[in-house]
Amino acid sequence: MQNYLFQLTTICLFFLLSCANNTLDDVTEELETTPEIVTYIDVKPIVSGNCISCHSNPPQNGAPMSLETYLDVKNAVLNRDLLNRISLPEGNSNLMPKGGPRLPQSNIDLFNKWNQDGLLENPQ
Ligand code: HEC
Repeated sequence: MQNYLFQLTTICLFFLLSCANNTLDDVTEELETTPEIVTYIDVKPIVSGNCISCHSNPPQNGAPMSLETYLDVKNAVLNRDLLNRISLPEGNSNLMPKGGPRLPQSNIDLFNKWNQDGLLENPQ
């Protein structure tokens, strides 16, 4: 009888622990991982939150072009020096978003990785 109880406790404990472990791993993983291939889906929220107030369609506040669509943003990376414009030091008058503050470095890194990964629209 005692042996049986011991086994039962061990099995319960095992499930309890493995469950708790998994949950913790999953949460940490989600917070720390950058996607293996960065696509437009990953950078779009950064553009929406920081650029669209001026780079809307039609553009506002003297901005010369829209950044509303995938092709708009891709074109700005290729032909309008977007990566450089977001990477300038804080206070530089050419820094985007205009008037600052500079984007968090992790966001700038994400743009650069998107470019390195081929400026794809979404994961195939
Ligand atoms: C407060 C308004 C405003 C915001 C917000 C803003 N921009 Fe701009 N942007 C402008 C204006 C005005 C210009 C044109 C003057 C200049 O080039 O500095 C411009 C120019 C640019 C250019 C150069 C275009 C060209 O052909 O010369 C790029 C690239 C750019 N913005 C990207 C961005 C990105 C990316 C963001 C968001 C991270 C952003 N901008 C946020 C107002 C803004």
